[in-house]
Amino acid sequence: MDFKVADLSLAAFGRKEIQLAEHEMPGLMAVRKDYAASQPLRGAKIMGSLHMTIQTAVLIETLVALGAEVRWVSCNIFSTQDHAAAAVVVGPNGTVDDPQGVPVFAWKGETLEEYWWCTEQALTWPGGDAPNMILDDGGDATLLVHKGAEYEKAGAVPTADEDDPEEWKVILDLLHRTVSSEGRWTKIAESVKGVTEETTTGVHRLYDMHKNGQLLFPAINVNDSVTKSKFDNKYGCRHSVIDGLNRATDVLIGGKVAVVAGYGDVGKGCADALRGQGARVIVTEIDPICALQAAMDGYQVTTLEEVVETADIFVTATGNFNIITADHMARMKHQAIVSNIGHFDNEIDMAGLAKIPGIVKDEVKPQVHTWTFPDGRNIIVLAEGRLMNLGCATGHPSFVMSNSFTNQVIAQIELFTKTDDYELGVHVLPKHLDERVARLHLDALGVKLTTLSKVQAEYIGVDVEGPYKPDHYRY
Ligand code: NAI
Repeated sequence: MDFKVADLSLAAFGRKEIQLAEHEMPGLMAVRKDYAASQPLRGAKIMGSLHMTIQTAVLIETLVALGAEVRWVSCNIFSTQDHAAAAVVVGPNGTVDDPQGVPVFAWKGETLEEYWWCTEQALTWPGGDAPNMILDDGGDATLLVHKGAEYEKAGAVPTADEDDPEEWKVILDLLHRTVSSEGRWTKIAESVKGVTEETTTGVHRLYDMHKNGQLLFPAINVNDSVTKSKFDNKYGCRHSVIDGLNRATDVLIGGKVAVVAGYGDVGKGCADALRGQGARVIVTEIDPICALQAAMDGYQVTTLEEVVETADIFVTATGNFNIITADHMARMKHQAIVSNIGHFDNEIDMAGLAKIPGIVKDEVKPQVHTWTFPDGRNIIVLAEGRLMNLGCATGHPSFVMSNSFTNQVIAQIELFTKTDDYELGVHVLPKHLDERVARLHLDALGVKLTTLSKVQAEYIGVDVEGPYKPDHYRY
């Protein structure tokens, strides 16, 4: 089996944590049981690009339990948990000397070149086969396949401009080496029945591609299942934003002024958690609806310019770019903590920070750096501007990821087994499946659900078995 992880000897530790996680992931375990006999993913060759954590290990082994062949990478250079990667490679029945699990190409602290090499490896099936499904988080695997196929059709890969972002230069370099006249990427694009996308940022990319007529296969937007974005993005970040800050700095949050940029699902979770720790939270927003929500939730809402010199902790959660600029950072107070929890690292202008004349970067420990300005003040930047909850901590806990990943598995089954029902475009799972995911998580929390009577159901115009809300309902 081909694979590349940091250290296979970590597998035993990884396996113990996977076993603990399984107990906390009732949705995934129920799906395993429900589909054990029918094996709906037999014949599926799933390439996954999603943070290689313990929770993801349970997802991967669920896909395998349903019959799929799987190859995996992380979707971020810092988010791999090396013991999880090792355990998945060794597998539940293998040994370090005889790994029998799933090929994983991921380790914590990859370079950008290594990151894209890993993505290429996971998309390359042994024996010249191609994957027929993609499970993506942020859209990098989907992007590589689309760009490869596009340039194969055009017959040439463009040359990078000097001022292109570093990562784009790496991607173009990889495509210069791999785009082929036999159509290596075209073959993959033609073989893929569809992609299921995990996060807000990846979903934006998919809608854009579809709008521009570039999308090559159908997609299911897993992020906008209610049991994903209203849970993982919100309650997951409510847990892991604090974990990231604590593990990185252990600074007391109570009494500090914390700025959360963006009051979407992620921002709502972060602001709530920081307030729970006793911070005075200030929100920035561009959307009047979200700004009004933040105000009514009791937060001061203002611009970053107003508070940049006085706040202690900054967390960006916008999915947008250039939120905290080099100029902002130059104005911050001594030892302000600067972090991002959005998907990509361009929310904070790290390249601009590095260009400030006389600035000195110093590593406190991996993924925690001070940047000292010529006047002696410094700021603390977490995870080099990449998502801090996965770079500095271990991401979301199992229970909330069970919701997200049960949606992922159901979406993979839908696209793989009912391919013809999903025309080219971006789809969300039907509401009855969303409700099913929620239902699978109630018992574990001791929730007793009230049953609608037939007359009540008729009165509000729904079926006793659901769905209980129209598609436009916003929760
Ligand atoms: P969202 O779209 O619900 O929220 C983003 C908010 O930022 C919106 O309300 C928008 O109006 C606001 N915004 C945009 N530009 C802004 C600006 N210049 N200044 C202030 N506010 C601005 O998106 P969601 O679901 O909250 O996701 C945010 C990011 O977090 C995405 O990149 C997503 O992929 C990522 N994500 C990260 C997770 C993690 O574990 N680190 C988990 C889930 C999502």
